Amino acid sequence: MQLKLENRRYLIGNQELPTSWYNVVPDLPGGLRPILNPGTGEPLRPGDLAPLFPEGLIEQEAATESYIEIPQAVREVLAVWRPTPLVRARRLERELGTKSRIYYKYEGASPSGSHKTNTAVAQAYYNKREGVRRLATETGAGQWGSALAFAAAQFDLELQVYMVRCSYDQKPYRRALIEAFGAGIVPSPSPRTAVGRRVLEETPDTPGSLGTAISEAVEDAAGREDTRYALGSVLNHVLLHQTVIGQEAQRQFALAEDYPDVIVGCCGGGSNFAGLATPFLPDKLAGRMLRLIGVEPYSCPTLTRGRRAYDFGDSARLTPLIYMHTLGSGFVPPAIHAGGLRYHGMAPIVSALVDQGLVEAVAEHQRDCFAAGVLFARCEGFLPAPESTHAVRRAIVEATREPERPQCILVGLSGHGLLDLGSYQRYFADELEDFAYPQAAVEESLRELPGATSVSPT
Ligand SMILES: Cc1ncc(COP(=O)(O)O)c(C=O)c1O
Repeated sequence: MQLKLENRRYLIGNQELPTSWYNVVPDLPGGLRPILNPGTGEPLRPGDLAPLFPEGLIEQEAATESYIEIPQAVREVLAVWRPTPLVRARRLERELGTKSRIYYKYEGASPSGSHKTNTAVAQAYYNKREGVRRLATETGAGQWGSALAFAAAQFDLELQVYMVRCSYDQKPYRRALIEAFGAGIVPSPSPRTAVGRRVLEETPDTPGSLGTAISEAVEDAAGREDTRYALGSVLNHVLLHQTVIGQEAQRQFALAEDYPDVIVGCCGGGSNFAGLATPFLPDKLAGRMLRLIGVEPYSCPTLTRGRRAYDFGDSARLTPLIYMHTLGSGFVPPAIHAGGLRYHGMAPIVSALVDQGLVEAVAEHQRDCFAAGVLFARCEGFLPAPESTHAVRRAIVEATREPERPQCILVGLSGHGLLDLGSYQRYFADELEDFAYPQAAVEESLRELPGATSVSPT
């Protein structure tokens, strides 16, 4: 006779795929400040964004309703890998000797290997619905580029990807995956755009930055009638699409007859963290004891050392002004291996939650994060993406901090690291350095912020 198995995976079926996205904006106690037109300093009108985004996404950017129905065509594609598993990390718990219960929500199960696919599918759908033929985008680590390449293939759209040069060099297999899905890809800065040519002339050896790659993709999209731009994080509609993660986790916790005390996610532009954590926010606002922790790298400390101000989303200052935590749009972080966390800004929603004390922001060094990723892989089998190791590291800190006060911890495992093995190799060869950006460099970058910070909130 076989003994009963300990529960490890909490699975729900396709029929329980969420039918609506949860829009946290109406629940934000202080609301959000509007996006501004940098020319006039006035709030953007919906039509101003039309050269870049389809109407369906522009509407979602400004949506005030709490739930927005997910189109059936989007759910049909998501159903290929969603709902993703919620797994109890029992071996990791035992290895740590903690009585805390650690669960991870595994977004590495998607075709491109991360949560980015959730919004990629939605964005490709709305573009296709409105007759767009071609998309342009940037990618840091390559996760977003490969996610959008997958989604573009699903909806028969052409795609041009501008990949931050240091990631382009570090991650050749991401490039191959993007090409396998049928998209075009070039390193950024590239000679294809005026912005790229300028940056190459001024700093030929630049590792590139997400800020510059965004400028190139925006320039590409704005210059062609048949092309729109797609962004993989930061904006409200992107965070909205990611809320399938947290909503599924809520149902899976009900199956587990448990509920998190702490939710931890890594923060690049803020989308996987917000997608996991914000569906739980109404419970927190209703008085439930629940800590939400966003983790960023020391080398790109947007939330912990940046300032909340109006700033551009890109380095060439082509985008509208967004009120967010920022290190200044000219900030070029060092080429750390969690390429997806190298962004100067942070989602306005996450920035607001941090300012209101509803989300705690912490920074971690990359070597501690890789160590946590390796420990996780040895215990649980899945190798986390370098970005996701930031959340794993913090979860370990939380789980071991107060042995007498066990907690239930939910970790966002935003992606797998199987195409990041070069970074792990460098970690094993002891070639990775920890880098805390000097305060003087942060201050200098912040001095370049546009002077629109006095606009009053609406
Ligand atoms: C696996 C993974 N996790 C996290 C991130 C960070 O992005 P965001 O904060 O928008 O979720 C990225 C970005 O590329 C990523 O690839």
